[in-house]
Amino acid sequence: MSLRLEKVFFRYDDGGPWVLEAVDLEIPKGSSVGIAGGTGSGKTTLLMHLNGLLQPQKGRILVDGEDPHDPSLSRQERAARRRRLRSHVGLVFQYPENQLFEETVEKDIAFGPKNLGLPPEEVAARVERAMAALGLSPDLKTRSPFQLSGGQMRRVAVAGVLAMEPEVLVLDEPTAGLDPLGRQEFLELLRRWKREHPKRTIVYVSHRMDEMALLVERLIVLHRGKVVADGPPVHLFLEEDVTRWGLEPPPAAQLLLGLKARGLAVDVKSLAPREVARAIARAWRDGAPCGKA
Ligand SMILES: Nc1ncnc2c1ncn2[C@@H]1O[C@H](COP(=O)(O)OP(=O)(O)O)[C@@H](O)[C@H]1O
Ligand SMILES: [Mg+2]
Repeated sequence: MSLRLEKVFFRYDDGGPWVLEAVDLEIPKGSSVGIAGGTGSGKTTLLMHLNGLLQPQKGRILVDGEDPHDPSLSRQERAARRRRLRSHVGLVFQYPENQLFEETVEKDIAFGPKNLGLPPEEVAARVERAMAALGLSPDLKTRSPFQLSGGQMRRVAVAGVLAMEPEVLVLDEPTAGLDPLGRQEFLELLRRWKREHPKRTIVYVSHRMDEMALLVERLIVLHRGKVVADGPPVHLFLEEDVTRWGLEPPPAAQLLLGLKARGLAVDVKSLAPREVARAIARAWRDGAPCGKA
């Protein structure tokens, strides 16, 4: 499923400032895209347009070339397109564990697929796959989600979205409040999910630029509701001054910028710490030109 935003404008209050302003964006099928920006830059508002929870006030959104809000369609046709959008774009809200409500983990994860009208065997199979994808042991199925640790509750909530088998998985600050190990594990699970489903899309919002550098191939920066940058994280963090948009380059990028300023130019393809370490070692061994920035 491909998503396209064309000159999208949105504001919560009539006459107030635009929260999204002329946002043009194409998210092709199979991509992994990060959306970064300071607090209040419009990230959550943008995500809510991707699955039809909010509707552009000007401009339009196209889903595989179709506008789910097209005013020339009948009410029923629009509703059908929006249903399709909602079932194919899985949105994981911030602190999704706040929305758990069933008595057992299994029932909670099954809620979405059941609502899709799938047969019980298919629902059960999806629950198992989603739990495995999130590293949740099967014996948690019969537990109450409210007896689990915070990190486990978060994973159960995400499993509920994965069990819908969305073509586009949208996550809003999914690691907020997790401890460093929990965050790392969660990121690794997402990376695995993406590897195993190359045709599905991830849209990832985080204020952690180190996570972006590890997870996404393309980073979009929102600043006061406008798209101000769009490109590979390596390029953005090494070639642009991202601090003007309230962002801090990840530590690996800061290290490379520091080395460059001291005359050691290091060529990297990614900002994964291991890759950066290898590239620095190579540059050092090869006696990269020193003394000039
Ligand atoms: N429900 C709402 N009602 C009114 N204003 C809102 C609402 N949600 C967000 N806003 C405002 O819209 C702007 C963008 O918010 P948001 O999309 O949540 O940004 P971000 O996710 O980047 O922090 C902010 O100025 C915020 O105060
Ligand atoms: Mg937000």
